[in-house]
This record gives sequence, C-alpha cells and structure tokens, in this order.
Amino acid sequence: MKILVTGGLGFIGSNFILRLLDISNDVSITNIDAELYGSDHKNLNEIKNPERYNFVKGNISNKKFMEEQIEKCDVVVNFAAESHVDRSIHDANPFLISNIRGAFTILDIITKQQKRMIQISTDEVFGSLSTGTADENSKFNPSSPYASTKAAAELLINSYHVTYGSDVVITRCTNNYGPRQFLEKLIPKTIVLAHNNKKIPVYGNGKNIRDWIFVEDHCNAIDLILQKGKSGESYNISANNETNNITVIKKILEIMNKSEDLIEFVEDRPGHDLRYSMDSTKITKNFNWTQKSNFEEGLLKTIQWYENKPEILNNLSNALESTPWKNSN
Ligand SMILES: NC(=O)c1ccc[n+]([C@@H]2O[C@H](COP(=O)([O-])OP(=O)(O)OC[C@H]3O[C@@H](n4cnc5c(N)ncnc54)[C@H](O)[C@@H]3O)[C@@H](O)[C@H]2O)c1
Repeated sequence: MKILVTGGLGFIGSNFILRLLDISNDVSITNIDAELYGSDHKNLNEIKNPERYNFVKGNISNKKFMEEQIEKCDVVVNFAAESHVDRSIHDANPFLISNIRGAFTILDIITKQQKRMIQISTDEVFGSLSTGTADENSKFNPSSPYASTKAAAELLINSYHVTYGSDVVITRCTNNYGPRQFLEKLIPKTIVLAHNNKKIPVYGNGKNIRDWIFVEDHCNAIDLILQKGKSGESYNISANNETNNITVIKKILEIMNKSEDLIEFVEDRPGHDLRYSMDSTKITKNFNWTQKSNFEEGLLKTIQWYENKPEILNNLSNALESTPWKNSN
C-alpha cells in the first residue's frame, strides 16, 4: 500500500511513520510537510527501511502540488495541522489555512481521484464537558479557534461523503504525549523546564482535565483504522485516564525527583476548556483496540526519551517562549 502521510515531521505523524515502516513490509510512505515551526527532520532519524520512505516539502493547501502527490498514492492520512490552542487564540488565520483549506484540498482531490482519506481529528471538537462522555454521535461544541477549525474540516468531510460518496474515515483522539512532541505542549515543556530547574507555568488553578494517551497507542489505533475503518464512519480514541494538569505536573516532578516549588500558577488561557472526555467503545468493540501503556509507564518512557536527548533538554528557548496568546495584548 502506498500511503501519503501529511504533517509527518510533527509529533504524532513522525511516531506513526516510524512505527508503520517498522511493522509493515508491504507499505511505502511519502511524507509531505510544510516544515513549519514545530516540525523536525530529526524526529525521523531512527527510521527503519528508509528505501520505503520519501519526503517531499509542500503545503497541503496547494492544490496542484497535492493533486500530483495524491495521484501516486492509495490513501492519505492527514495529520498536517496547526495544533496549538494558544497560538490559535493569538492568530487563527494559519489554522483556517492548514486545518480547513488544507483538509478540504485533500478531500476534494481524493474524491475526484477516488482515493481514501483518513482525517486525524481531536476530542476538542466536542468542547468542554462538565459530566458524561462524548461518543461518535455527540454534538460538536468547540470553544477554541483551533477546535473550531478541526470541527469545520470534519463537517466538510462528512458532507462530501453524503454528497459524493467520498471514501473518508475520521479519527478523534484525546491528548497525546510521548517522544518527539514539540516543547510548547504541557508534558515536554514541564520535563525540560524541570530538568533545568526553571519555573513551570500552570494556567489558572491547574484543575483542567485531559484524558492522556501515549502516542504509540494512538498510532496503533490509526493503523487499525487504516486497515479496517469503514467509509463515512468516525472513531473516538480515548485512554480512560482523565487527569488534571496539576496532577500531571506533580507526577513528572516526582519521577524526576524535583521540587514542587517549581510550580508557578499564571493567568488562565481565555476560554480554557475544563474537561474533555470521550467514549472509545466503538473502536474497542469493532477492532479489538486497547491501549498498551498506562499513564505511569508512558510518562516514564517519555521522560527517559527526553533525558536521553541533551540537545533538546538544553535548548530552553522553545519551552520558555512566552504564552503566544498573551503577545496579542
Ligand atoms: N497532539 C495531540 O494531543 C492531538 C490530539 C488529537 C488530535 N491531534 C491532531 O493530530 C494531528 C497532528 O498533531 P501533532 O501534535 O503531531 O501536531 P504537530 O504540530 O506536532 O505537527 C503538525 C505538522 O504538520 C505540519 N503542517 C502544518 N500545516 C501544514 C500544511 N498546511 N501543509 C503541510 N504541513 C503542515 C507542520 O509542519 C508539523 O510538522 C493534528 O491534526 C492534530 O489536530 C493532536
């Protein structure tokens, strides 16, 4: 199978490529990435079977370029997106371009060329839930510009399936953590700041709840959906591990043997969702998917990975960068 992966220099896409080339002999991958700020070719240093891997720099919203690339593949797995909520609060425009225009460009082309598209979406489309969990039929209620662009892409994809019979599958996942995540996100940021004995900023009271999933478990689920996902369907992928931010940070400090005095509460993010929660019974029942790493194991593996990368640990600038949404004030 010839797979076109977009955004494969980023966190989840690179983990997906490494894993798939390692476990599948009959797969070749072309990775398209625009090399935006969080991308890193070093994420793919450990690639196995490089003869089945090809990188092409390009933007998924470039129609002509994408037509040529999609022509050569069987299926597109679309990871490419602007992914940081804070940045979307500061300036939503790049999110509209990558997350809506980019996804639509792929959608339109796969429809005309009769290919398949797997869209990697997020639990954030359901917005904040004070109680209960969202299943595949729950109503969208996104709060941030980021989440709204991901929801918009989903709506377009569904409408194309209904109108043109486009071969599309949507996956929605909870918060990922693990190796190769860019340092602006909570877990790697905390690891790097703690390693350097720097203050760790925590939004509001730190009680915001996320359901943390180890990135390998997410990639495993996408692989199953790639093989077995039904056209026009969506699949939620969650970890049953709802934990608030302050607990996550304290666990990291405990594992790294650092003082909780490093924690510093800062002004909350505007519109900060309190809790995300999804039910992943569908993928568990249909495809026998289960996560392999519990949170403690996954966190330990993640910390060990960063601790073995001095070039990342000692480059504080990405972890220290001021909160982007504040720059707009
Ligand atoms: N990180 C999470 O916790 C999480 C959870 C659920 C869903 N997702 C989704 O998974 C996908 C990947 O997330 P991530 O955390 O790996 O993001 P990331 O920011 O680490 O990587 C995104 C990659 O996409 C590339 N990119 C962005 N816009 C592009 C464009 N227009 N054309 C080509 N390349 C472009 C970037 O250069 C980068 O390499 C996103 O679609 C995100 O919405 C992420």
